[in-house]
Amino acid sequence: MSDWTHRHVLDLAAFSLSDFATVLELAQRFRAMPTSGARKLPALQGRLVTTLFFEPSTRTRSSFELAARRLSADVVSFTPGSSSLSKGESLLDTVRTYVAMGAELLVVRHRATAVPQQLAEALDAAGESVAVLNGGDGLHSHPSQGLLDLFTLARHFAPDAPAPEALRGRRIVIVGDVLHSRVARSNLWALTACGAEVVLCGPPTLVPEAFADFVAAPPPGQARDPVTARGLVRIERDLDTALAGADAVMTLRLQQERMQQNLLTSLDGYHRRYGLTHGRLAACGRPVPVLHPGPVNRGVEMSGALLDDPAVSLVEEQVRNGIPIRMALLYLLQSSLNPSSKRP
Ligand code: CP
Repeated sequence: MSDWTHRHVLDLAAFSLSDFATVLELAQRFRAMPTSGARKLPALQGRLVTTLFFEPSTRTRSSFELAARRLSADVVSFTPGSSSLSKGESLLDTVRTYVAMGAELLVVRHRATAVPQQLAEALDAAGESVAVLNGGDGLHSHPSQGLLDLFTLARHFAPDAPAPEALRGRRIVIVGDVLHSRVARSNLWALTACGAEVVLCGPPTLVPEAFADFVAAPPPGQARDPVTARGLVRIERDLDTALAGADAVMTLRLQQERMQQNLLTSLDGYHRRYGLTHGRLAACGRPVPVLHPGPVNRGVEMSGALLDDPAVSLVEEQVRNGIPIRMALLYLLQSSLNPSSKRP
Protein backbone atom coordinates (compact mmCIF):
# COMPACT_ATOMS: atom_id res chain seq x y z
CA MET A 1 0.00 0.00 0.00
CA SER A 2 3.01 2.25 0.48
CA ASP A 3 3.21 3.56 -3.11
CA TRP A 4 -0.41 4.80 -3.28
CA THR A 5 -0.10 8.51 -4.16
CA HIS A 6 -3.55 9.55 -5.45
CA ARG A 7 -5.27 12.44 -3.70
CA HIS A 8 -8.40 11.95 -5.83
CA VAL A 9 -9.78 9.08 -7.91
CA LEU A 10 -10.84 10.54 -11.24
CA ASP A 11 -9.74 8.21 -14.07
CA LEU A 12 -8.23 4.69 -14.15
CA ALA A 13 -5.86 5.86 -16.91
CA ALA A 14 -3.76 7.25 -14.04
CA PHE A 15 -3.58 3.90 -12.18
CA SER A 16 -0.42 1.78 -12.14
CA LEU A 17 -0.49 -1.99 -11.81
CA SER A 18 0.47 -1.52 -8.18
CA ASP A 19 -2.56 0.79 -7.65
CA PHE A 20 -4.89 -1.88 -9.04
CA ALA A 21 -3.24 -4.52 -6.83
CA THR A 22 -3.61 -2.29 -3.74
CA VAL A 23 -7.32 -1.68 -4.31
CA LEU A 24 -8.07 -5.35 -5.03
CA GLU A 25 -6.14 -6.56 -2.00
CA LEU A 26 -7.94 -4.14 0.32
CA ALA A 27 -11.32 -4.94 -1.22
CA GLN A 28 -10.73 -8.65 -0.68
CA ARG A 29 -9.98 -7.97 3.00
CA PHE A 30 -13.05 -5.75 3.41
CA ARG A 31 -15.22 -8.30 1.62
CA ALA A 32 -14.19 -11.02 4.06
CA MET A 33 -15.27 -8.97 7.07
CA PRO A 34 -18.62 -9.73 8.71
CA THR A 35 -21.42 -7.38 7.75
CA SER A 36 -23.53 -7.99 10.84
CA GLY A 37 -22.83 -7.58 14.55
CA ALA A 38 -19.80 -5.40 15.29
CA ARG A 39 -19.45 -4.64 11.62
CA LYS A 40 -18.16 -1.09 11.53
CA LEU A 41 -14.48 -0.36 11.17
CA PRO A 42 -13.32 2.92 12.75
CA ALA A 43 -11.14 4.09 9.80
CA LEU A 44 -13.35 7.04 8.81
CA GLN A 45 -14.64 7.96 12.26
CA GLY A 46 -14.96 11.75 12.41
CA ARG A 47 -14.91 12.11 8.62
CA LEU A 48 -17.83 13.36 6.53
CA VAL A 49 -18.51 11.72 3.16
CA THR A 50 -20.85 13.63 0.83
CA THR A 51 -22.40 12.12 -2.29
CA LEU A 52 -23.22 14.75 -4.92
CA PHE A 53 -25.08 13.05 -7.76
CA PHE A 54 -26.26 15.41 -10.48
CA GLU A 55 -27.41 12.36 -12.49
CA PRO A 56 -29.59 9.46 -11.30
CA SER A 57 -28.02 6.43 -9.66
CA THR A 58 -29.13 3.36 -7.75
CA ARG A 59 -25.97 1.31 -7.31
CA THR A 60 -23.08 3.75 -7.17
CA ARG A 61 -24.51 6.25 -4.73
CA SER A 62 -26.02 3.68 -2.36
CA SER A 63 -22.91 1.52 -2.28
CA PHE A 64 -20.62 4.51 -1.65
CA GLU A 65 -22.90 5.50 1.24
CA LEU A 66 -22.94 1.96 2.65
CA ALA A 67 -19.17 1.73 2.22
CA ALA A 68 -18.70 5.02 4.08
CA ARG A 69 -20.97 3.92 6.94
CA ARG A 70 -19.15 0.58 7.26
CA LEU A 71 -15.99 2.63 7.82
CA SER A 72 -17.81 4.72 10.49
CA ALA A 73 -18.03 7.94 8.44
CA ASP A 74 -20.89 10.40 8.67
CA VAL A 75 -22.73 10.62 5.34
CA VAL A 76 -24.68 13.45 3.71
CA SER A 77 -26.45 12.89 0.43
CA PHE A 78 -27.01 15.89 -1.87
CA THR A 79 -30.09 15.81 -4.10
CA PRO A 80 -30.05 18.47 -6.84
CA GLY A 81 -33.84 18.64 -7.30
CA SER A 82 -34.46 19.99 -3.80
CA SER A 83 -31.28 22.08 -3.55
CA SER A 84 -30.44 25.76 -3.91
CA LEU A 85 -29.12 25.11 -7.42
CA SER A 86 -32.65 26.08 -8.48
CA LYS A 87 -32.02 29.52 -6.94
CA GLY A 88 -28.96 30.03 -9.12
CA GLU A 89 -26.20 28.84 -6.80
CA SER A 90 -23.27 27.57 -8.85
CA LEU A 91 -22.05 24.00 -8.78
CA LEU A 92 -18.71 25.03 -7.25
CA ASP A 93 -20.39 27.16 -4.58
CA THR A 94 -22.69 24.22 -3.81
CA VAL A 95 -19.70 21.95 -3.31
CA ARG A 96 -17.84 24.56 -1.25
CA THR A 97 -20.92 24.82 0.98
CA TYR A 98 -20.60 21.11 1.80
CA VAL A 99 -16.86 21.51 2.35
CA ALA A 100 -17.63 24.35 4.77
CA MET A 101 -19.89 21.91 6.63
CA GLY A 102 -16.93 19.55 7.01
CA ALA A 103 -17.20 17.30 3.96
CA GLU A 104 -13.78 15.83 3.15
CA LEU A 105 -14.59 12.95 0.82
CA LEU A 106 -16.81 14.03 -2.08
CA VAL A 107 -18.33 11.50 -4.48
CA VAL A 108 -19.44 13.37 -7.61
CA ARG A 109 -21.49 12.20 -10.59
CA HIS A 110 -22.31 14.61 -13.42
CA ARG A 111 -23.54 14.29 -16.98
CA ALA A 112 -20.74 16.57 -18.21
CA THR A 113 -17.25 15.22 -18.76
CA ALA A 114 -14.52 16.41 -16.34
CA VAL A 115 -16.76 18.02 -13.71
CA PRO A 116 -15.23 15.91 -10.87
CA GLN A 117 -11.75 16.81 -12.15
CA GLN A 118 -12.56 20.53 -12.34
CA LEU A 119 -13.95 20.46 -8.80
CA ALA A 120 -10.84 18.65 -7.56
CA GLU A 121 -8.59 21.24 -9.22
CA ALA A 122 -10.60 24.17 -7.81
CA LEU A 123 -10.59 22.73 -4.28
CA ASP A 124 -6.86 21.93 -4.47
CA ALA A 125 -6.16 25.47 -5.65
CA ALA A 126 -8.13 26.80 -2.68
CA GLY A 127 -5.97 24.72 -0.34
CA GLU A 128 -8.83 22.54 0.88
CA SER A 129 -7.97 19.15 2.38
CA VAL A 130 -10.57 17.15 0.44
CA ALA A 131 -10.62 14.12 -1.84
CA VAL A 132 -12.88 13.85 -4.90
CA LEU A 133 -14.08 10.48 -6.16
CA ASN A 134 -15.54 10.37 -9.63
CA GLY A 135 -18.93 8.61 -9.46
CA GLY A 136 -19.26 8.82 -13.26
CA ASP A 137 -18.75 11.83 -15.55
CA GLY A 138 -20.39 12.08 -18.97
CA LEU A 139 -18.99 9.54 -21.40
CA HIS A 140 -15.56 9.81 -19.82
CA SER A 141 -14.92 7.71 -16.74
CA HIS A 142 -16.53 5.58 -14.02
CA PRO A 143 -13.52 4.40 -12.03
CA SER A 144 -15.25 2.65 -9.13
CA GLN A 145 -17.33 0.62 -11.63
CA GLY A 146 -14.20 -0.34 -13.58
CA LEU A 147 -12.57 -1.44 -10.33
CA LEU A 148 -15.53 -3.48 -9.14
CA ASP A 149 -15.74 -5.17 -12.55
CA LEU A 150 -12.02 -5.96 -12.34
CA PHE A 151 -12.47 -7.30 -8.79
CA THR A 152 -15.43 -9.44 -9.87
CA LEU A 153 -13.46 -10.95 -12.76
CA ALA A 154 -10.34 -11.47 -10.65
CA ARG A 155 -12.42 -13.22 -7.98
CA HIS A 156 -14.02 -15.39 -10.64
CA PHE A 157 -10.66 -16.51 -12.03
CA ALA A 158 -8.77 -16.61 -8.69
CA PRO A 159 -11.26 -16.62 -5.78
CA ASP A 160 -8.63 -16.84 -3.03
CA ALA A 161 -6.16 -14.33 -4.50
CA PRO A 162 -8.01 -11.88 -6.76
CA ALA A 163 -4.97 -9.91 -7.94
CA PRO A 164 -4.40 -8.20 -11.32
CA GLU A 165 -2.36 -11.26 -12.45
CA ALA A 166 -5.61 -13.25 -12.56
CA LEU A 167 -6.50 -11.28 -15.71
CA ARG A 168 -3.21 -11.75 -17.57
CA GLY A 169 -3.77 -13.40 -20.95
CA ARG A 170 -7.57 -13.57 -20.49
CA ARG A 171 -9.80 -12.58 -23.37
CA ILE A 172 -12.65 -10.32 -22.23
CA VAL A 173 -15.40 -9.42 -24.72
CA ILE A 174 -17.22 -6.10 -24.21
CA VAL A 175 -20.32 -5.99 -26.36
CA GLY A 176 -22.76 -3.16 -27.03
CA ASP A 177 -22.90 0.60 -26.66
CA VAL A 178 -19.20 1.30 -26.13
CA LEU A 179 -19.50 4.80 -27.64
CA HIS A 180 -21.70 6.13 -24.83
CA SER A 181 -20.17 4.06 -22.05
CA ARG A 182 -17.90 5.55 -19.40
CA VAL A 183 -17.91 2.04 -17.88
CA ALA A 184 -16.34 0.58 -21.05
CA ARG A 185 -13.68 3.30 -21.06
CA SER A 186 -12.75 2.62 -17.42
CA ASN A 187 -12.74 -1.12 -18.10
CA LEU A 188 -10.42 -0.63 -21.07
CA TRP A 189 -7.85 1.09 -18.84
CA ALA A 190 -8.23 -1.46 -16.03
CA LEU A 191 -8.30 -4.68 -18.05
CA THR A 192 -5.44 -3.80 -20.40
CA ALA A 193 -3.31 -2.65 -17.44
CA CYS A 194 -3.71 -6.14 -16.00
CA GLY A 195 -2.68 -7.79 -19.27
CA ALA A 196 -6.09 -8.89 -20.54
CA GLU A 197 -6.96 -8.80 -24.23
CA VAL A 198 -10.18 -6.83 -24.80
CA VAL A 199 -12.43 -7.55 -27.77
CA LEU A 200 -14.98 -4.81 -28.43
CA CYS A 201 -18.04 -5.95 -30.32
CA GLY A 202 -20.93 -3.99 -31.82
CA PRO A 203 -22.01 -2.08 -34.92
CA PRO A 204 -19.79 0.80 -36.16
CA THR A 205 -22.35 3.32 -34.86
CA LEU A 206 -21.80 2.06 -31.29
CA VAL A 207 -18.19 0.82 -31.55
CA PRO A 208 -16.27 3.25 -33.79
CA GLU A 209 -12.95 1.98 -35.21
CA ALA A 210 -11.05 4.60 -33.17
CA PHE A 211 -11.64 2.55 -30.02
CA ALA A 212 -8.97 0.07 -31.17
CA ASP A 213 -6.42 2.79 -30.23
CA PHE A 214 -8.16 3.95 -27.06
CA VAL A 215 -5.36 2.95 -24.65
CA ALA A 216 -2.51 3.61 -27.09
CA ALA A 217 -1.69 6.95 -25.41
CA PRO A 218 -2.59 8.55 -22.06
CA PRO A 219 -5.55 10.93 -22.10
CA PRO A 220 -5.00 14.67 -22.71
CA GLY A 221 -3.52 16.32 -19.63
CA GLN A 222 -1.81 13.16 -18.40
CA ALA A 223 1.94 13.21 -19.05
CA ARG A 224 2.62 9.48 -19.22
CA ASP A 225 1.04 6.06 -19.05
CA PRO A 226 1.94 4.50 -15.66
CA VAL A 227 1.54 1.02 -17.19
CA THR A 228 4.47 -0.17 -19.30
CA ALA A 229 2.82 -3.08 -21.17
CA ARG A 230 -0.93 -3.15 -21.79
CA GLY A 231 -3.05 -5.96 -23.21
CA LEU A 232 -4.31 -5.57 -26.76
CA VAL A 233 -7.65 -4.09 -27.84
CA ARG A 234 -9.36 -5.22 -31.03
CA ILE A 235 -12.75 -4.75 -32.62
CA GLU A 236 -14.93 -7.55 -33.93
CA ARG A 237 -18.28 -6.83 -35.61
CA ASP A 238 -19.69 -10.37 -35.51
CA LEU A 239 -20.71 -11.52 -32.03
CA ASP A 240 -20.20 -15.25 -32.59
CA THR A 241 -16.65 -14.59 -33.85
CA ALA A 242 -15.97 -12.30 -30.88
CA LEU A 243 -17.20 -14.91 -28.41
CA ALA A 244 -15.02 -17.74 -29.76
CA GLY A 245 -12.34 -18.36 -27.13
CA ALA A 246 -13.64 -15.69 -24.71
CA ASP A 247 -12.97 -16.05 -20.99
CA ALA A 248 -15.75 -13.64 -19.95
CA VAL A 249 -18.33 -11.40 -21.60
CA MET A 250 -19.45 -7.98 -20.48
CA THR A 251 -22.50 -6.44 -22.10
CA LEU A 252 -23.39 -2.76 -21.80
CA ARG A 253 -26.65 -0.90 -21.48
CA LEU A 254 -27.90 0.82 -24.62
CA GLN A 255 -27.81 4.44 -23.42
CA GLN A 256 -30.63 5.79 -25.51
CA GLU A 257 -30.82 8.92 -23.35
CA ARG A 258 -27.33 9.88 -24.57
CA MET A 259 -27.87 9.07 -28.25
CA GLN A 260 -28.09 12.26 -30.33
CA GLN A 261 -29.59 10.44 -33.31
CA ASN A 262 -31.11 7.07 -34.14
CA LEU A 263 -28.10 4.77 -34.10
CA LEU A 264 -30.14 1.55 -34.27
CA THR A 265 -32.82 0.46 -36.71
CA SER A 266 -34.70 -1.48 -34.01
CA LEU A 267 -34.19 -2.90 -30.53
CA ASP A 268 -35.36 -6.35 -31.75
CA GLY A 269 -32.75 -6.27 -34.51
CA TYR A 270 -30.08 -5.20 -32.02
CA HIS A 271 -31.00 -8.07 -29.69
CA ARG A 272 -30.86 -10.57 -32.55
CA ARG A 273 -27.35 -9.43 -33.56
CA TYR A 274 -25.79 -8.44 -30.24
CA GLY A 275 -28.07 -9.65 -27.43
CA LEU A 276 -26.75 -12.35 -25.11
CA THR A 277 -28.77 -15.51 -24.46
CA HIS A 278 -27.86 -18.97 -23.20
CA GLY A 279 -27.89 -20.18 -26.82
CA ARG A 280 -25.66 -17.35 -28.03
CA LEU A 281 -23.06 -18.06 -25.37
CA ALA A 282 -22.50 -21.53 -26.87
CA ALA A 283 -20.21 -19.71 -29.34
CA CYS A 284 -17.70 -19.28 -26.49
CA GLY A 285 -17.03 -23.03 -26.68
CA ARG A 286 -17.06 -23.37 -22.85
CA PRO A 287 -18.98 -21.96 -19.88
CA VAL A 288 -18.09 -18.29 -19.36
CA PRO A 289 -19.44 -15.67 -16.94
CA VAL A 290 -21.49 -12.70 -18.09
CA LEU A 291 -21.26 -9.22 -16.55
CA HIS A 292 -23.36 -6.07 -16.94
CA PRO A 293 -22.81 -2.83 -14.98
CA GLY A 294 -26.57 -2.23 -14.73
CA PRO A 295 -29.19 -1.04 -15.02
CA VAL A 296 -30.13 -3.75 -17.53
CA ASN A 297 -32.67 -3.45 -20.36
CA ARG A 298 -34.03 -7.01 -20.05
CA GLY A 299 -34.45 -8.69 -23.41
CA VAL A 300 -32.25 -6.11 -25.17
CA GLU A 301 -28.62 -6.47 -24.04
CA MET A 302 -29.31 -9.87 -22.50
CA SER A 303 -32.25 -12.18 -21.97
CA GLY A 304 -34.02 -12.13 -18.63
CA ALA A 305 -33.29 -15.87 -18.27
CA LEU A 306 -29.55 -15.24 -18.61
CA LEU A 307 -29.60 -12.28 -16.24
CA ASP A 308 -31.35 -14.37 -13.58
CA ASP A 309 -29.16 -17.48 -13.99
CA PRO A 310 -26.63 -17.47 -11.12
CA ALA A 311 -24.56 -20.15 -12.84
CA VAL A 312 -23.66 -17.65 -15.59
CA SER A 313 -24.61 -14.12 -14.53
CA LEU A 314 -22.23 -12.17 -12.26
CA VAL A 315 -24.48 -9.10 -12.25
CA GLU A 316 -25.55 -9.40 -8.60
CA GLU A 317 -21.98 -10.29 -7.65
CA GLN A 318 -20.86 -7.03 -9.29
CA VAL A 319 -23.33 -5.13 -7.12
CA ARG A 320 -22.11 -6.92 -3.97
CA ASN A 321 -18.48 -6.22 -4.85
CA GLY A 322 -19.20 -2.52 -5.26
CA ILE A 323 -19.27 -2.06 -1.48
CA PRO A 324 -15.78 -3.44 -0.60
CA ILE A 325 -14.28 -1.72 -3.65
CA ARG A 326 -15.71 1.63 -2.56
CA MET A 327 -14.61 0.98 1.03
CA ALA A 328 -11.10 0.44 -0.32
CA LEU A 329 -11.17 3.73 -2.26
CA LEU A 330 -12.50 5.76 0.68
CA TYR A 331 -9.96 4.13 2.99
CA LEU A 332 -7.04 4.90 0.69
CA LEU A 333 -8.07 8.50 0.05
CA GLN A 334 -8.69 9.36 3.70
CA SER A 335 -5.04 8.63 4.40
CA SER A 336 -4.04 11.73 2.38
CA LEU A 337 -6.43 14.05 4.24
CA ASN A 338 -5.30 16.42 6.92
CA PRO A 339 -5.56 14.44 10.22
CA SER A 340 -6.28 17.64 12.19
CA SER A 341 -9.49 18.26 10.26
CA LYS A 342 -11.01 15.10 11.72
CA ARG A 343 -13.85 16.05 14.01
CA PRO A 344 -13.65 14.71 17.62
N1 CP B 1 -23.57 0.94 -12.85
C1 CP B 1 -24.02 2.14 -12.39
O1 CP B 1 -23.33 3.15 -12.42
O2 CP B 1 -25.28 2.06 -11.88
P1 CP B 1 -26.06 3.31 -11.25
O3 CP B 1 -26.33 4.29 -12.36
O4 CP B 1 -27.34 2.69 -10.69
O5 CP B 1 -25.21 3.92 -10.19
